[in-house]
Amino acid sequence: MSISADDFQIVQKFLLENSGISLAPGKEYLVEGRLQPLVYSEGFDDIHVLVVALNKNSESDLGKKVIEALTTNETSFFRDKHPFETLKTAIIPELLKKTQANKKIQIWSAASSSGQEPYSLAMLLADSFSWVKDWDIRIVASDISEEMLEKCRSGLYSQFEISRGLPAHYLPRFFQRAQSKWQINSEIRERIDFCYLNLYEDWVGLPPLDIIFMRNVLIYFDKDTKKTILEKVIKVLKPGGYLFMGSGEKPDGLEEHFQTTDFSTSACFKLVSA
Ligand SMILES: C[S@@+](CC[C@H](N)C(=O)[O-])C[C@H]1O[C@@H](n2cnc3c(N)ncnc32)[C@H](O)[C@@H]1O
Repeated sequence: MSISADDFQIVQKFLLENSGISLAPGKEYLVEGRLQPLVYSEGFDDIHVLVVALNKNSESDLGKKVIEALTTNETSFFRDKHPFETLKTAIIPELLKKTQANKKIQIWSAASSSGQEPYSLAMLLADSFSWVKDWDIRIVASDISEEMLEKCRSGLYSQFEISRGLPAHYLPRFFQRAQSKWQINSEIRERIDFCYLNLYEDWVGLPPLDIIFMRNVLIYFDKDTKKTILEKVIKVLKPGGYLFMGSGEKPDGLEEHFQTTDFSTSACFKLVSA
């Protein structure tokens, strides 16, 4: 059953107010396709009845499920490759020199989806910087989707997910068989703190950060929301820290704070002033 114009508007408003995600007109097909499985699993007669229930109580569990259904979770191990190369060859070596005094490096994977991004970071550190013994290097990984966070914490991936971007020699090194899936070793899992964080709400509990990966998520927000979120990045990123965005993304409107780096193919920007 197709969604009516009124119901689409209700979903649009709900999603914007609760996650910052902006659904452009014309995305009715996406809402229909993504909400239909929820209609069945939650026992509603059709999309309209689901939207009425959502409109009555947007803070319910149903609200969370609607947000989860409408977010795009596309990701892969070592997505785009360049950012990880840049980290390995330039940024981590620079930070190791800079943090000699306190020997602490904090990395945040904001919008970590099903975990491939933070796990890629953790495997890169274990592989290329295993000689760094006395540094405390922590990764925080967050997302708005509890379902994605659960998958992150389980560390379980299908053969298909493994085949998307994981270097072949990392499989025997960092994974073990778990029936039909592969599970990432606890040594890697323990390097990451997974937590719920809605980028559209207040950010609580984040440590001062040296590196932020905020990739392929700001594209879902409108211009003003994107700017508001980047202003919050300025507050939590240490001066001289690095922001990695998705390929082709830029910190629009805040160029005086973020310097373009030599690593432009990595969409890597340096915070020069807070
Ligand atoms: C396309 S994935 C990007 C994953 C990963 N960063 C990458 O580049 O491969 C987008 C993620 O953003 C999350 N997301 C969407 N809106 C969010 C919000 N308001 N706060 C936090 N995460 C959000 C979604 O749940 C989804 O997992």
